[in-house]
Amino acid sequence: MAPAVTPEARAAHWRSVYTTRPPTSRSWYQAEPRVSLALLDTLGVGPQTAVLDVGGGASFLADRLVARGFRDVTVLDVAEEALAEVAGRLGRDPRVTLLCSDLLAFAPTRRYGCWHDRAVLHFLTEDELPAYQAVLRRALEPGGAVVVGAFAPDGPEQCSGLPVRRYDPPGLLAALGPGFEAVASEREEHLTPTGALQPFTWLAARWTG
Ligand SMILES: C[S@@+](CC[C@H](N)C(=O)[O-])C[C@H]1O[C@@H](n2cnc3c(N)ncnc32)[C@H](O)[C@@H]1O
Repeated sequence: MAPAVTPEARAAHWRSVYTTRPPTSRSWYQAEPRVSLALLDTLGVGPQTAVLDVGGGASFLADRLVARGFRDVTVLDVAEEALAEVAGRLGRDPRVTLLCSDLLAFAPTRRYGCWHDRAVLHFLTEDELPAYQAVLRRALEPGGAVVVGAFAPDGPEQCSGLPVRRYDPPGLLAALGPGFEAVASEREEHLTPTGALQPFTWLAARWTG
């Protein structure tokens, strides 16, 4: 059950991407995490909720959440260069914690009320899903909220040069493992900075246990 990409190769890939490619040359770049924020609203995730953005990279989600009054936002990513971009924008903000770790090896020491994942789950092979589900269950509070976005069935077959698995809403729900209830789903037609269309499937879910 060897992973398709070793953890070392995964880290090296992503560190190199963030080192060599400026923000607006990355296909996943978005100035406004519109769907993420809308689905957090749908789930009733408010400023009092602790949010963990897994594979958050250099996303502006943390900035937008802080601007909305969130006080406990954690961004986890395997590439410290991506987290350095967040730190460069936000400075030493006590409301934002930056964790450099491979998600699949992450051992949470606390729980969060909300798990957010945009374009990370879709890199995982079927063999890697149990590790993702185990971390999700250790990190999320009972009753916690999940917002996850991945390439849609008619989306690209690769992201950042790596193979991806594509998902419809039931597939995303199943990928979370048992005990999750779908609250809403959405299709997003993401436009990359070069104008290419990337259809995403989004799911908002709750852990009902
Ligand atoms: C396509 S980018 C999306 C970044 C961010 N979620 C966004 O919406 O801008 C995928 C991100 O996942 C990170 N990543 C990939 N595999 C990871 C893993 N196993 N553990 C932690 N981060 C990972 C990469 O470094 C990268 O920042």
